[in-house]
Amino acid sequence: MSHEIAVIPGDGIGQEVTPAAVAVLEALDMDFAFVDAEAGDSVREETGEALPEETYELAASADATLFGAAGETAADVILPLREAVDSFVNVRPARAYPGVDALRPETDLVFLRENTEGVYAGHEDRLTDDVATLTRLVTDSASRRLAEYACGFVADRGADGFTVVHKANVMRETDGLFREAVTNVAAQRGVETDEVLMDAFATRVCLDPGQFDVVVCPNLAGDVLSDLAAGLVGGLGLLPSANVGPERALFEPVHGTAPDIAGRGVANPSAAILSGAMLVEYLGYDEAAAAIRSAVEAVLEGGPRTPDLGGDAGTADVREAVIDRLE
Ligand code: NAI
Ligand code: MG
Repeated sequence: MSHEIAVIPGDGIGQEVTPAAVAVLEALDMDFAFVDAEAGDSVREETGEALPEETYELAASADATLFGAAGETAADVILPLREAVDSFVNVRPARAYPGVDALRPETDLVFLRENTEGVYAGHEDRLTDDVATLTRLVTDSASRRLAEYACGFVADRGADGFTVVHKANVMRETDGLFREAVTNVAAQRGVETDEVLMDAFATRVCLDPGQFDVVVCPNLAGDVLSDLAAGLVGGLGLLPSANVGPERALFEPVHGTAPDIAGRGVANPSAAILSGAMLVEYLGYDEAAAAIRSAVEAVLEGGPRTPDLGGDAGTADVREAVIDRLE
């Protein structure tokens, strides 16, 4: 079956790492039709719009989308793109790799972050010069949808259950509802859960990440805690993510446009390539995904490595080394 894959490199190193990921997917020799589209700062400079209508429509109709990063316009680009695929969960694996200097080499976590509401629902007001407010939105339906996904996810991963991170002791209504909805769904499905307050989680994950596996959390907590986990595993150049919806999904490295290194051909393409692995897995090609992951792992362990990992190789060297090791 042929799959249409939208490719939106965006700005900065998005223009460097996204083509590297596409080259790896092309090397799989599968029936993928790649369609390129523009978004971000540079297209806004030309046209006034950071996310052209045709890019939104392409993401809303393609089987899957591979996105790089956008600069100042990130919120104007990525939030609508997540909406275009009706994404209700952001899947963020954070694991350490042999050969990479990590603060906590035993880390192997996956965050399942609610992707539509919480404090990112956009209900903010400036009431007076002195007073600004934010309404935190939590719904039973979105919390249950996330929990249903989490139950399927732990079954696929061969895990017993998941950890629910929240702050229901303070946010009794919103996180109270989140906690109740998520744990009820898990109990109905026979999936074990434990609960950790989000502030305590931040400490515990730093001291002993090995005690956690799959972590289910509200939107803001998932954003912050997954970036914290990035710090435990050796940096942003390694972390892929998926924004999953009921019928399509968008894949992107967790990192941004890295203006400090953009244009020099030295960005680490691993996060983008691993996002490509999540994409092919989402489309049902588990073996191809495993092949990409083991090729990336072999290159991380044996080199070549980009400067962020202490090497002096370029993006293209890593791309070619990964392609050489694909089986
Ligand atoms: P960043 O992730 O772009 O960079 C942070 C640091 O990590 C920099 O020192 C950068 O060189 C390094 N880094 C990131 N990815 C790397 C890679 N693949 N290889 C080697 N080094 C890498 O975050 P920053 O600097 O906070 O943001 C820069 C721009 O990116 C901002 O305009 C921001 O709005 C945007 N951004 C966009 C995102 C998106 O489109 N999803 C996400 C995060 C930031
Ligand atoms: Mg973030």
